[in-house]
Amino acid sequence: MNKIIVAPSILSGDFANLETEIKKLAQNGADWIHVDVMDGHFVPNLTIGAPVVKSLRKVCSIPLDVHLMIDNPQKYIKDFAHAGSDVITFHYEAAKENTVDLINLIKSFGKKAGISIKPKTLVKEIVPYLELVDMVLIMTVEPGFGGQKFMPECAEKIKELKEHLQKNIIIEVDGGINKETASYCKNLGANALVSGNYIFSAPDMKEAINSLREL
Ligand code: DX5
Ligand code: ZN
Repeated sequence: MNKIIVAPSILSGDFANLETEIKKLAQNGADWIHVDVMDGHFVPNLTIGAPVVKSLRKVCSIPLDVHLMIDNPQKYIKDFAHAGSDVITFHYEAAKENTVDLINLIKSFGKKAGISIKPKTLVKEIVPYLELVDMVLIMTVEPGFGGQKFMPECAEKIKELKEHLQKNIIIEVDGGINKETASYCKNLGANALVSGNYIFSAPDMKEAINSLREL
């Protein structure tokens, strides 16, 4: 059986104390740290850039899962790779005809390449690239903000995705993930779970992280 990767999103953490937050997450069993990068264009919110990822890298002992919700991702891959990202995921909607070049660019830095789709984008649009990527990130909310409600119809896309997969890749879900929705996604075949609000608002972080792994 595939191991489930739990990737807490620091978007729900305290930005004045990211080092403490990251260390706490790692100590409490997080597998990866999910970093949400937003540019105010691709999504209606602004967060952090490569310099912050570089600083996080110095204090983080586990992989950094960087989710680029930005236009023109090709312009910034190098910066995020050099900053110490381990997984770099871009949005297909922002890449379109540059998709193959982007995947190759990410891989040229020795990083895992992920492709993500928003709720309204169909799986069939990314089928041509499935052979090339290490991970597909299925958004289960409209990207932009933490704390939104899970959309089950987005997770259903995993079924179709699996029909087209010729190799084992990571299937990650992001948005509104808690114990119940995690279980729903795992049953469909997800093996990486991003979770922000649920983990950070839980009375016991360790218990919350573990609960995402339970069947
Ligand atoms: C939304 C981000 C998510 C978000 C997840 O655009 O990509 O990673 O922070 O947060 P929750 O788990 O609170 O939906
Ligand atoms: Zn994310």
